[in-house]
Amino acid sequence: MNMRNCTRFGLGILLGSLLQSGICSAATVTISCIANGKDLEMCTQGAEAWAQQSGNKVNVVSSPDSGRLALYQQLLSAGSSDIDVLQIDVVWPGILAQHLIDLKEKVGSGTEEHFASIIKNNTVGNRLVAMPWFADAGVLYYRKDLLEKYKAKVPETWDELSATAKKIQDAERASGHDKLWGFVWQGRNYEGLTCNALEWVSSYNGGAIVDAAGKVTIDNPEATAALTLAKGWVGSISPQGVLNYGEEEARGVFQSGDAVFMRNWPYALALVNNADSPVKEKVGVAVLPKGGEEGRHSPILGGWQLAVSKYSKEPDLAADLVMYLTSAAEQKRRAIIGSYAPTIPALYKDESVRVAAGPVVDPLYDTLSSAAARPSAITGVRYNQFSAEFSNAIYSVLSGRTDAAASLKELASKLNRMSRGGKW
Ligand code: GLC
Repeated sequence: MNMRNCTRFGLGILLGSLLQSGICSAATVTISCIANGKDLEMCTQGAEAWAQQSGNKVNVVSSPDSGRLALYQQLLSAGSSDIDVLQIDVVWPGILAQHLIDLKEKVGSGTEEHFASIIKNNTVGNRLVAMPWFADAGVLYYRKDLLEKYKAKVPETWDELSATAKKIQDAERASGHDKLWGFVWQGRNYEGLTCNALEWVSSYNGGAIVDAAGKVTIDNPEATAALTLAKGWVGSISPQGVLNYGEEEARGVFQSGDAVFMRNWPYALALVNNADSPVKEKVGVAVLPKGGEEGRHSPILGGWQLAVSKYSKEPDLAADLVMYLTSAAEQKRRAIIGSYAPTIPALYKDESVRVAAGPVVDPLYDTLSSAAARPSAITGVRYNQFSAEFSNAIYSVLSGRTDAAASLKELASKLNRMSRGGKW
């Protein structure tokens, strides 16, 4: 392991005596982690374990949920060395690449352990700017006990989900559970809404907003149908307040026992099964529904990576920490305790991972291999602006300000202008 002022001498004996004489100092590496659910706790445990093993120190900071990217951009553009290791979203490598170091040499053939699609996603202009840490894909959580009580099947299509949610919500409310909702998801105007909406659109064969060649495809009847369906949920099977929900708000309602279905990421499984969770052992997990018989299951790929800032004063140590946290051993620990989906395919066959997190990691395996991604590679540095336009357009439909067809038409012309006619 790497320790500042120590490894440079490269001699064990010298190292030992330097340590004893106190000349050899431990360095501090600052890592910024997200703080959803168990994220911060698990990041801190991993980073502390590295610090202990390497004889260095870590400083774990959590960045705010909203505005994280803007904060990173501000720090990095100013060349700040405040943060050495950054936790970055799967859609950010293109946006932040110029500020991140190339980890290729450090990782060597270790990249082969990970899903090739994620390594490809994190490689910008032949530079590996981030290492995969955990993968995400949208999954459907459902209440096994309620489905059983009403003899309902796990829904295969969104129409089935709507009907089952309505039936159970009405019946349960009539017998006194008046806070029960059919379906909770992420409807706030932010990146999470982009993920949810793209899942609906793509499940109806309405494309991925932009195609692989950069052409804007969102103004189509399938996308309109998907969006009209989702608009119908608000205030009926989903609370009006869903328009203010992120991941944690949806989980809060579901975990309190007040929803039949929830769309969320794998991390929620470990939490809904916590010892003190009112729905412990009552929850099943399934692939997200299809958009009708002709549609397809379309969970969107998410996930987080670890990157080293170019302005770090300890780039070697920072890269060491990244290697430690993204290693198979640490990913295994995170999968077992926190149900975070590994980015290392071999771990999906590991017996202890399968016992602890199987229900969510299983449906993800195929998705991760084929990677139904948001169009961040093609939109590159414009991804964030692009996604904000998309979620604005969706939000305006869900909140009743515009109808679906008009909103998508206007969105398509805005995106066409932004992309200079699909060139991006
Ligand atoms: C999850 C996903 C990430 C996505 C975010 C949206 O954290 O891993 O990729 O952008 O949710 O809220």
